Amino acid sequence: MIKKERIKRIISKLQEIEKFKNQDLKIGIAPGRINLIGEHTDYNEGFVFPCAVSRENIMAAIPSETQKIKIYSLNYSEFLQFSLDELKLTGNWIDYIKGVVFYLKEYGYKIKGMTGVLHSTVSIGGGLSSSAALEVVTAYLFKLLYNLEIDYKELALICYKAERNFMNISCGIMDQFISTLGKENCFLFLDCRPPYSYEQIVLPRQDVRMVIMDTKIHHAASKILNIRRKECSKGVEIIRNKTGINFKSLRDISIEEFEKFTDFLPQPIKNRCEHVINENQRVLNAKEAIKVGDFKLLGNLMYKSHYSLDTLYEVSSKELNTMVQIAKDIEGVIGARMTGAGLGGCACCICYEWAIEELINKAKNVYEKTYGIKPAIYACNISDGARELKNIE
Ligand code: GLA
Repeated sequence: MIKKERIKRIISKLQEIEKFKNQDLKIGIAPGRINLIGEHTDYNEGFVFPCAVSRENIMAAIPSETQKIKIYSLNYSEFLQFSLDELKLTGNWIDYIKGVVFYLKEYGYKIKGMTGVLHSTVSIGGGLSSSAALEVVTAYLFKLLYNLEIDYKELALICYKAERNFMNISCGIMDQFISTLGKENCFLFLDCRPPYSYEQIVLPRQDVRMVIMDTKIHHAASKILNIRRKECSKGVEIIRNKTGINFKSLRDISIEEFEKFTDFLPQPIKNRCEHVINENQRVLNAKEAIKVGDFKLLGNLMYKSHYSLDTLYEVSSKELNTMVQIAKDIEGVIGARMTGAGLGGCACCICYEWAIEELINKAKNVYEKTYGIKPAIYACNISDGARELKNIE
């Protein structure tokens, strides 16, 4: 449920900035995400299995006949603007919006200016894909304001390109796709190789929820993504040269095949490749586990994924490991692991409703005692992706 108070605050800020007719006003939402399993596989053309969560970026906006994009962020209490024909990076949050504008234009969409107000409850820089939520809500608002006939996959791709090319961040496609395609109570099984086919997998039980465990250690993900991306490409290149087989990405190598290549791969490249190849298989297994309601198997796969990210891919942290260990020791927790790029940010946990209180209390106490940092730990719903908010009185 989106709180009415929150929407009223956003609209009243917009009214302060500019007078408008009610029929011109559009309100859009784009959520953050948790990735259940399939980490660091998207930029290797592999599989991911995220869900959208009930933490979202909301934008209320009106169209403008001018070339100006004017946006107020309630999170930053900051008003920034730019002109549609002046899309230069400034090192500010508005650059993400410029990236979206750049690619909307690049794809041939006819847009004019807009004035908008933003408010996000996706913890900024917390590993729940706050930047994708910002890109997607922006693209979605342009779609609403200018009746753009843009389908969901294209919208996600435009937002991905804004982050990957315009912002020059080494991300994969997962975050923008889930923020766009998310579906209530479903995990999105996404094949990250074009044409990006996907399947919505319903969570078959009502008494199971997702819990986010935010370590409050926030790092920019871009550096590690860049390094790991290069290591994975190097692995593919070495395997290609040695075997003469034209593998395009790690996605093309099976676990059995990989065993034959381990002798000639140097470390840490071997470990990076091993993580990705096994993680792809774990996603396929997790999808089947959810379909048949085998939560024991799902939990095991999540713990294995976390262990592999810690030891082979080396993107976990002591704080994330603590969170996962606390969760693992609680009866009623199905599985837990770090989620997103790692090194900080959040762990995610899937658990029975009756275990949530104990999980939250225990994790808060132990974590704070161990690190002297107050974590944020909360249950959330699996929500729909980008959508319009209507009928607000
Ligand atoms: C970040 C990126 C995603 C993905 C994850 C790791 O969230 O934006 O594309 O690569 O890291 O799985």
